[in-house]
Amino acid sequence: MNKVITAPDIKARKGSKPIAMLTAYDYPTARLVEKSGIDLILVGDSLAMVVLGREDTLSLTVDEMLHHVKAVARGCERALVVADMPFLSYEPDVAEAVRNAGRMLKEGGARAVKLESASGVLPQVRAIIAAGIPVMGHVGLTPQRVAELGGFKVQGREGPAADRIVEEARALDQAGCFAIVLEAIPADLAARITAEVGAPTIGIGAGPRCDGQVLVYHDVVGLFDRFVPKFVKKYADVSVDLVAALTAYREEVEAGTFPDADHSFGTIPAA
Ligand code: KIV
Repeated sequence: MNKVITAPDIKARKGSKPIAMLTAYDYPTARLVEKSGIDLILVGDSLAMVVLGREDTLSLTVDEMLHHVKAVARGCERALVVADMPFLSYEPDVAEAVRNAGRMLKEGGARAVKLESASGVLPQVRAIIAAGIPVMGHVGLTPQRVAELGGFKVQGREGPAADRIVEEARALDQAGCFAIVLEAIPADLAARITAEVGAPTIGIGAGPRCDGQVLVYHDVVGLFDRFVPKFVKKYADVSVDLVAALTAYREEVEAGTFPDADHSFGTIPAA
C-alpha cells in the first residue's frame, strides 16, 4: 500500500507540489477518486445539493453527514478524508463542536474536519485542534452563510470586504488550520492570501495562484447540471454514457432480449 497521507503531509506541500482535492460522498466514488491519485478527499456538505437534491446545504444533519463519511472512508486506503461540519454543528457551542468533530473521526473514519468562516468560530477551531483533530478552514463564499451573504456570489470584490477575508484567513492560519479553502474570490485576492498565510490555500473559483484546487465530483464528471458556476470545468460528461446504458437495458428488457442464455442459469424454455 502507498503511504497514507496525513494533515501534516498536506501542510508541508505549501510552495511545492500543488494539491488536487475532490469531493466524494460514497464508497464507489471514493475508490475512483483515490485511484486517480488524488491525495485529499472532502466529504463536502455540498452532499445536500448534489446528492440529496436540496436547494442549499443548511438542512444537512450530523447523522446524514456521518452516513456518507463512513462510506467514503471505507473506500479510501491512502487519501486524507476530510469531513465537512454541517451548519450549526459547531457554531453555537465549543464543547458541542469538539464532540461533533470527534464523531467524524471516531464513528465516520475521517481524519480531519472542515468548517466554514472564522467569525464567531475561532474558539471552536482552536478547541477542535487542541483535541487532536486537524481542521481545514474555509473563507470567501461560505455556503452555510448564504442567507447572510444574499446568495451564492463572488466575495471580496471591494477593499473592505477583501480585507475582511484576508483577516479571516490569517486568523484561521494562526489558530492552526492545516489548509484553508478559498471559495469564489478574485484571483488577485487569493494570491495575496496565499502569500500571507503559512497553511496551503485550496481554491475553488479563486484562480490559479492557490496552493491547490478543489472541485465537486459531480461537476467534474458531468453528473450535476442544475447549477454550473463559471469556475467549474467539466472533464467528462458521464451522464451521456449512463443514460445510453440505462436506455439500452430498458430497450432489451422490453424487447425480451435480456436476459439471454449468457446471463441465465440452466436451459431457457422456448417461449
Ligand atoms: O461542500 C463542499 O463541497 C465544499 C467545497 C466546495 C469546498 O465545501
